[in-house]
Amino acid sequence: MRVPVCIIGAGPAGLFLGHLLSAEGIESVVLERQSPEYVRGRIRAGVLENITVGLLERLGLDARMKGEGLPHDGFNLADGERLIRIDIKELTGQEVMVYGQTEVTRDLMEACEERALQVLYEVGDVTLHDIESDRPSVTYKKGGIEHRIDCRIIVGCDGFHGPSRKAIPSDAGKEYERIYPFGWLGILADVPPCNHELIYANHERGFALASMRSNTRSRYYVDVPVNDKVEDWIDERVWDELSLRLGPEAAANITRGPSLEKSIVPLRSYVFAPMRHGSLMLCGDAAHIVPPTGAKGLNLAASDVHYAADALIRYFNQSEPDAIAGYSDRALARVWKAERFSWSLTRLMHRFLDDGPFERAMQMAELDYIATSRAAQTAIAENYVGLPV
Ligand code: FAD
Ligand code: DHB
Repeated sequence: MRVPVCIIGAGPAGLFLGHLLSAEGIESVVLERQSPEYVRGRIRAGVLENITVGLLERLGLDARMKGEGLPHDGFNLADGERLIRIDIKELTGQEVMVYGQTEVTRDLMEACEERALQVLYEVGDVTLHDIESDRPSVTYKKGGIEHRIDCRIIVGCDGFHGPSRKAIPSDAGKEYERIYPFGWLGILADVPPCNHELIYANHERGFALASMRSNTRSRYYVDVPVNDKVEDWIDERVWDELSLRLGPEAAANITRGPSLEKSIVPLRSYVFAPMRHGSLMLCGDAAHIVPPTGAKGLNLAASDVHYAADALIRYFNQSEPDAIAGYSDRALARVWKAERFSWSLTRLMHRFLDDGPFERAMQMAELDYIATSRAAQTAIAENYVGLPV
């Protein structure tokens, strides 16, 4: 098979990009290791910035989000006792949209057939070839038979563990990494949220986040030691911990219920630069990871795709030979700022192993400063809604 663009990975980055290219008449094929049911079932991010909302609008796939999503004009930080409200609407003029990554993925997947976006699921042994030439190819196995796709550009949207980034020679890029000594245990439950807006809490006992998927479905997180197992955390233990960490006001409104899903995600900050090598471009988690504090992971994948689609459209449709070369610098400028925000909010809201009373006092002083300074609140709000693309 020969196509202009071969996309590896059918997560949000790969599906968004495939649709954006199709809309401009650029043919692509998307290769995905998992089954459609597996991809659809993954519970991940929950808060969309304007950039992500805007991509769904641009594709005309925003109807369900407009009907079922919850626009939020503020969120809260908690220091164990009080709630500090960040009025993002008043401070930035913008809102965020609470609409799960599962729903975004479903909307993108359901539109593939009608829009003739070809996604090949359950493919194995995906391997990239000749990425330093302008005639790269990708081989994969399906049903025991090896196939080959010849293309002009390969876009690696295959997440942190995919083969794309690993195909770049080690001397052609640099890795920047920070691994955190805790993970987030998340639970999903069909109970009303304890608060109409999100709460990120820093309590003596650790971090907690109260989020939601709808007015009847809640998503909660607590930080746990990185080696804890899901089995260590029966539902009642999670609810008890949430009730303590979220503070008395929220705790009074927590409705307990059986968990529909429970999992632990490790926390990591990671950037691979540059995000392009020869004929290979990287988008989303394939190039960078943020800790989930601040809800940037999915939104950063969307902003990479915005820049990648722009570069590819200029390259293929407007005959701009240099368009692809500029992709990495444009994408990375925004990536680094989101990395900084996610890292600093993680630092502010979590207990670290070697933190003593001084570090704890610094966190409390910073939260108190945020509570009383419009300038500090504005800095947080403009990063939370997403910096301009
Ligand atoms: P992915 O969604 O990872 O998609 C990559 C795709 O590539 C997958 O479908 C994968 O199956 C496919 N793939 C991998 N290897 C191959 C291969 N060899 N061949 C073919 N296909 C391959 N962010 C938040 O903001 N908030 C959260 O609460 C949150 N929770 C998360 C929980 C988990 C468990 C994880 C892993 C991430 C979470 N994130 C969260 C981050 C957010 O979900 C990601 O940033 C987002 O999914 C990135 O999209 P992506 O398309 O780049 O990568
Ligand atoms: C959710 C996840 C996040 O990482 C975050 O910062 C906010 C909300 C969520 O899953 O709802």
